[in-house]
Amino acid sequence: MFSKMGMLHKIMQKESLLDHQSALMQLVTGFSRYGGVTIDRANGVEESLDLSQICKEITKTRELGNAIDKYNIKGFSQFLNWTSRPNDTPYPPCYLVNHHFRSDHNDGCTKEFSSKLLKSIPDFVKIVEVGPRDGLQNEKSIIPTDVKVELIKLLVSAGLSVVEATSFVSPKWVPQLADAKDVLAAIQNVEGASFPVLTPNLKGFEAAIAAGAKEVAVFPAASESFSKANLNCGIEDNLSRCRDIALASRDLSIPVRGYISCVVGCPLEGYVAPAKVAYVAKSLYEMGCSEISLGDTIGVGTPGSVIPMLEAVLDVVPVDKLAVHFHDTYGQALSNILISLQMGISTVDSSVSGLGGCPYAKGATGNVATEDVVYMLNGIGVKTNVDLRKLMLAGDFICKYLGRSSGSKAATALSKVTAHASKL
Ligand code: HMG
Ligand code: MG
Repeated sequence: MFSKMGMLHKIMQKESLLDHQSALMQLVTGFSRYGGVTIDRANGVEESLDLSQICKEITKTRELGNAIDKYNIKGFSQFLNWTSRPNDTPYPPCYLVNHHFRSDHNDGCTKEFSSKLLKSIPDFVKIVEVGPRDGLQNEKSIIPTDVKVELIKLLVSAGLSVVEATSFVSPKWVPQLADAKDVLAAIQNVEGASFPVLTPNLKGFEAAIAAGAKEVAVFPAASESFSKANLNCGIEDNLSRCRDIALASRDLSIPVRGYISCVVGCPLEGYVAPAKVAYVAKSLYEMGCSEISLGDTIGVGTPGSVIPMLEAVLDVVPVDKLAVHFHDTYGQALSNILISLQMGISTVDSSVSGLGGCPYAKGATGNVATEDVVYMLNGIGVKTNVDLRKLMLAGDFICKYLGRSSGSKAATALSKVTAHASKL
């Protein structure tokens, strides 16, 4: 009978890897299902191998990784996250064992498992990170500008190509974002992402452009009462403000994103009819908005209400112009996102660590967490170009500052793996 490490060593002998293919595949299955494995076939050896030991041993044996790649034992090196692991990772090896942790692991491996239910899902999803705006606008305390700026930089370094930075709204209405000008000034030289900002009227638009904004967003609601509560004017008046902004933007070649709030439910009116959402979406499309983001501001939607709303909007706006923006108040955001992807939408808004809410939507909790979205998309083989590890660093940073735990289930679970691994 071989010892555990002896057995492992035997597996690691490159030249005999093919002979041990079934043992290796058992390892893979064992890791993922039970966190351990029994090898009983390859050499007539029957012994339970200890997961932690194996992880330590295998992850530091790069040679084996190369050999496994060479022999194309699918899934194994990806499972161990071999190729993506940078030398300077702050996380111990076991942290990397979860193959969903990589954002670029999915070239082929996961897609093979896709059933026909996943076939209509786009290969690439653009994530619009709204944490610094939608998240921080809702904090009770005022976050210092340098903390906001550092958060934005961390998000960009995680690979997010669109980070909504702030809002040029009335500081009396949203004092949390009163430093909009300073935030934009501090990120002028940050490369690799665009930084749209919210502008409710021409005054806000002009201030944003003067501060260096290159993209703006208008934000009408599909509910009359919410429009009044959020913007102090009704839907039609607000659409006319949006039109003024769209016209002014066209002259400057500034893209305008249009948000629609309360697309399935309103905190004041309750149910919102899909036709109302379609009307506002069509108006935004006709005034030239480059993208229209459909917001379930209070997170009440389920696929049961989201599908008819999307169907109505898809009748009047091309699918490639649409984005979805789900808050996770009732824990429905990921299922709503999945349905939206199945209906062809490929832009998803989310907020690091699930920060957020809306100051004018009582009871609305945070946006769906970006970490959770990336984790799910990795799992179904959809590219995002977002590095989950770095994204978690951004989440850790802001959660530590705010003194609370992450609102992301994926980040919380992965962090526990880290904590556990460090004790091994
Ligand atoms: P108002 O009080 O009707 O404005 O507010 P007003 O035109 O009567 O002016 C009153 C004062 O505000 C004046 O100053 C203006 O100069 C000033 P004063 O003379 O009293 O000193 N003012 C401004 N100051 C700075 N920037 C401006 C601006 N405009 C006027 N742009 C207004 C109307 C639209 C300004 C106000 O209602 C407002 O700022 N609302 C913003 C509310 C907001 O930001 N909500 C959260 C974002 S929406 C959201 O989160 C939903 C979303 O995420 C999607 C989803 O989740 O579904 C997008
Ligand atoms: Mg929102």
